[in-house]
Amino acid sequence: MENNYKSMITGLGFAVPEKILTNGDLESIVETSEEWIKERTGMSERHICDEATAASDLATEAAKKAIAMAGVNAKDLDIIIVATVTGDTPFPATGCYVQKNLGATKAAAFDIAAACSGFLYGLTVADNFIASGAYKNILVIGGELLSKITDYTDRTTCVLFGDGAGAAMVQPSDGIRGIVKTFIKSDGRLTDLLIMPGGGSRHPASHETIDQRFHYIKMEGPEVFKAAVTAMGDAAVNILKMAGIKSKQLALLIPHQANNRIIQATAKRIKLPMEKVFINIEKYGNTSSASIPIALTEAVEQGRLKQDDYCLLVSFGGGFTTGAVLLKF
Ligand code: ACO
Repeated sequence: MENNYKSMITGLGFAVPEKILTNGDLESIVETSEEWIKERTGMSERHICDEATAASDLATEAAKKAIAMAGVNAKDLDIIIVATVTGDTPFPATGCYVQKNLGATKAAAFDIAAACSGFLYGLTVADNFIASGAYKNILVIGGELLSKITDYTDRTTCVLFGDGAGAAMVQPSDGIRGIVKTFIKSDGRLTDLLIMPGGGSRHPASHETIDQRFHYIKMEGPEVFKAAVTAMGDAAVNILKMAGIKSKQLALLIPHQANNRIIQATAKRIKLPMEKVFINIEKYGNTSSASIPIALTEAVEQGRLKQDDYCLLVSFGGGFTTGAVLLKF
């Protein structure tokens, strides 16, 4: 049956640094225990980059895999979108560094700052650009080096975050597969729950901002947890309603990998059995905007998605931002 999908994902890829930081390693950095981290978050390991690596390095590696899978030449890219809150520099955009690395001379490149929801915001932008008829070849990347803004003296945050990048090539739909629906929403009343306070125009870098550790992630963990459970559940319920499909029609839910308990609560809200939920949090921790494209790539590699399957992507992040994208494979 022909559908009126506008765009589809034609290529995927991801990259993570080689170095692994285990729960055991964290025991020697802060007062924590392997068991606490595993039980409260579901995480065992996360990949951490070296000092010399920047977000565009991993983003480029992931992008090369995605465009190769799609059979697209970098010179034919129309748009490069990088979702990141840990870009190489405040400006220029990390997308421009990726553009240079790929030799994508025709493209326009820019970044999206929507924290962990950034990749789904990027897919939403790409889908609408393609629907407008203005562009055909859009690369959407979630690339994040959270280790660079993680305070390794704060046990309530440092156990959670890892580095990585994931990319998706988005092109016009073939009429069979595609992005069925997108949903994005923010709640700016919650900006203070999850924030890196320093380095912007509110608190430009100074000796004082360094002394106050303003260049690291600050998080009200339990408040974020509660807001995330509500936001992820609402987003999942909303998009299913918008698309007119029931959760039992879903083959797979790929949620943002922030905490196993948040993932379980989201599945429960839409009455989805855990066998239909993709989880790789134990290997990568929370990689922010990279978490969903990494998980989607692994899900495809592991044969968890077949033709005609519905797959739901759902995220939340600092802002507060929420996103959901429903895909037909
Ligand atoms: N090791 C051992 N104990 C710890 C640790 C740790 N790493 N961290 C906190 N604790 C302690 C606390 O100090 C507290 O002790 P107390 O009772 O003596 O005060 C106790 O454990 C319980 O703390 P809570 O914060 O209530 O623990 P909770 O079960 O809520 O788990 C967590 C904390 C994992 C941070 C959870 O709140 C969470 O996952 N929140 C959401 C975080 C999140 O997803 N952030 C990413 C957002 S996405 C983005 O945009 C980057």
